[in-house]
Amino acid sequence: MEFFEAIKGRRSIRKFREETPDDELIEKIVEAGIWAPSAGDLQSWDAVIVKEHQMKVQVAVAAYVQEFIAKAPVVIVMCANMANAGARYGERGRELYCIQDAACAAQNMILSAYALGLGAAWVGAFKEEHVADLLNLPEYIRPVALIPIGYPDEEPEAPPRRSVKEVLHNETY
Ligand SMILES: Cc1cc2nc3c(=O)[nH]c(=O)nc-3n(C[C@H](O)[C@H](O)[C@H](O)COP(=O)(O)O)c2cc1C
Repeated sequence: MEFFEAIKGRRSIRKFREETPDDELIEKIVEAGIWAPSAGDLQSWDAVIVKEHQMKVQVAVAAYVQEFIAKAPVVIVMCANMANAGARYGERGRELYCIQDAACAAQNMILSAYALGLGAAWVGAFKEEHVADLLNLPEYIRPVALIPIGYPDEEPEAPPRRSVKEVLHNETY
């Protein structure tokens, strides 16, 4: 797939076919996350794979009942590892770098899913404490995004984007 086709053609997918992607595909996607940039190359993030139906239902409930999450064959919970980044970078590591690391990795993963013929979405609206309890996360592991993944069963139109002119500021804001 051509690089800019991947960038522009990827859509958030919220409707999936029932077929579960092979573990090798999921591992390939997670590996793409590992190759994302990260502060000090510490890769201060972890991913929890959720496939069990009841757990997905509970995760969906923690995400304000976004039902499509429970219907995805696989949900990857992207987590910032505050201890890892904090050990080297202190407060900035705990509060910023590990979240940026997880976000960079998540974006690589979502794009890779698309390149492999799968669909995914970034879900940010969820109760962190609820998800942390469900997944038994230690206090230094912060869930930052839920990524439902599966074979797409919809082809959404591209939503509008801001123009380069609108987002770009020359020299000063
Ligand atoms: C930080 C963040 C939080 C998001 N939270 C949700 C969410 O809770 N539920 C959802 O369905 N989509 C969520 N999205 C996906 C956006 O709605 C989507 O990316 C945006 O509308 C653009 O559409 P596209 O991804 O198809 O280009 C989130 C995306 C980001 C980056």
